[in-house]
Amino acid sequence: MIDNGSLRSAGNNLDPWFSLYAQRTAGLAASEVRALFAVASRPEVVSLAGGMPYVSALPEDLVVGAMDRVMREQGPVALQYGSGQGVPLLREQITDVMALEGISASADDVIVTTGSQHALELFAKLFLDPGDLVLAEGPSYVTALVIFKSYQADVDHVPMDEYGLIPDALREHIANARAVGRRIKFLYTIPSFHNPAGVTLTWERRLEILEICRENGILVLEDNPYGLLYFGQKPPAAMRSVDEEGVVYLGTFSKTLAPGLRVGWALAPHAIREKLILANEAAVLSPSSFTQLVVSQYLGEADWRGQIDTFRGVYRERKETMISALEEHLPELSWTNPNGGFYVWLTLPESLDSKAMLPRAVTELVAYTPGTAFYANGDGAQNIRLSFCYPTPESIRVGVRRLANVINGELDLLNTFAGTGRLRAQRVSAETFPPSDLR
Ligand SMILES: Cc1ncc(COP(=O)(O)O)c(C=O)c1O
Repeated sequence: MIDNGSLRSAGNNLDPWFSLYAQRTAGLAASEVRALFAVASRPEVVSLAGGMPYVSALPEDLVVGAMDRVMREQGPVALQYGSGQGVPLLREQITDVMALEGISASADDVIVTTGSQHALELFAKLFLDPGDLVLAEGPSYVTALVIFKSYQADVDHVPMDEYGLIPDALREHIANARAVGRRIKFLYTIPSFHNPAGVTLTWERRLEILEICRENGILVLEDNPYGLLYFGQKPPAAMRSVDEEGVVYLGTFSKTLAPGLRVGWALAPHAIREKLILANEAAVLSPSSFTQLVVSQYLGEADWRGQIDTFRGVYRERKETMISALEEHLPELSWTNPNGGFYVWLTLPESLDSKAMLPRAVTELVAYTPGTAFYANGDGAQNIRLSFCYPTPESIRVGVRRLANVINGELDLLNTFAGTGRLRAQRVSAETFPPSDLR
C-alpha cells in the first residue's frame, strides 16, 4: 500500500505534494513579474503591460443579440457536447475569415480550439519530446515559450530586424543546431504585427523562410492573431497561403471579436489535423458549443468586417498616440513603429535593465512588460514591450510620460553613482492628470 504520509513528508512547507509533480512542471514557475502585475492592475496605474483587446469598442447588442438568438433557436445544441473538431458551419465561416489573408482552405482541415492558446498547447503536445529544439523569433510570444518549456523542449531564438525574421540567421541557426546533433521540430513564427516586436515579415522573406524550412524538413507553425488588425496597408498574405503541407496555421477570434469567448482554430495538413482532433477530444472532449454557435451567429448576421475596421481605427489612434508620446518624451531611444497589432518594442540605453526597473515604474504608476519575458534564454534586459491596445489615448500619453520619468530617474541614479550620461537634460514634469482620469 502507498504510504501517503511518507510521500507527503517529501514535500516542503508550502506544498506537501512538491515531490510528486511531473518533471515537466518545473517549467511552470510563476514569473517574477507576476506579483507586480497584481499591483499594476490597480486603477491608478497606467498599464502598458497587458495585451487585452479593447472589447468596449464592440457594440454590446451585436454580441447579446447573437447569444440571444443562439439560445432561442438552438438552445439544446448550444448546451450540449459537440464534435471534437468544432461546429461545421463555423469551420466554413472560418475559411471565409482566412480568405481575407490569402488562404484557400477546406473546412475539413480546420479544428476549432479553446482560443489559439489551446491550439498551441495541442500542437506542442503532438510534436515535442524532452530535449527537442524549437526555433522561434527572438523575442517571441511569452506564453508559447511557457508551453514549449512545459514539454521540456529548448527554444533557439533566431534574430529579427525591422523586416521580421532574418533568413540568413535562420540558415545559420539550423546549421549550428544540426552540427551539435539537436533535433529541430518546428519553426514557431508570428509573421504579422509580431508579439512583442511589432514588426511584419516581408513577402520575399516569407517565401525564403518557407523554402529554407522545406529544404530542411522543418514544419512551420504560423501564429496569426493580429493579421487583420492593420492600420494602413494590409500585411503580406499568410505563409500558409502558399504552402499547404509545410505550415500549420493558427487563428483566433480573440482580437477581432472577443477573447472571453475563447474561440480559436488550427488549419493543418490532413494527417496532423487528425491527430489534433484526437488531442482536442482528449483534452476537452469538444470546444464550447455555446461560444462557437455565438461566433457563428455573429459572423452570419453582423457586419463583422465593418467591426474589424472599427477596431483598426481604435488601435491606429492609440498606436499613433504612443509613438508621438515616445517622440516627445524619449526622443533618444529607439522603438518599432508597427503597422498593425498591439505592441511597440522599445530599446533602452545599454546601462538600464527593464526587469530591475519595473518595481520603480510600478511605484511611479506605470507598468510595462520587461523584454526578458519574451526570451527563453534571459536576453531582452534592454527591451520593453509597450501595449497600446487597452489604455485610452489620454492614459497612453500619461503612461509614456511616467515611463520617461522612470527611465530618466534611473539614468540620474547611474550618473550619480557611476558617471553614466543622462538621457535628457530636462526631466519630464510629474503628474498633471489626477489618477481617477487614467482608466
Ligand atoms: C502571438 C499570440 N498567439 C496566441 C495568443 C493566444 O490567443 P487566444 O488564445 O486568445 O486565441 C496570443 C494572445 O495574446 C498571442 O499574442
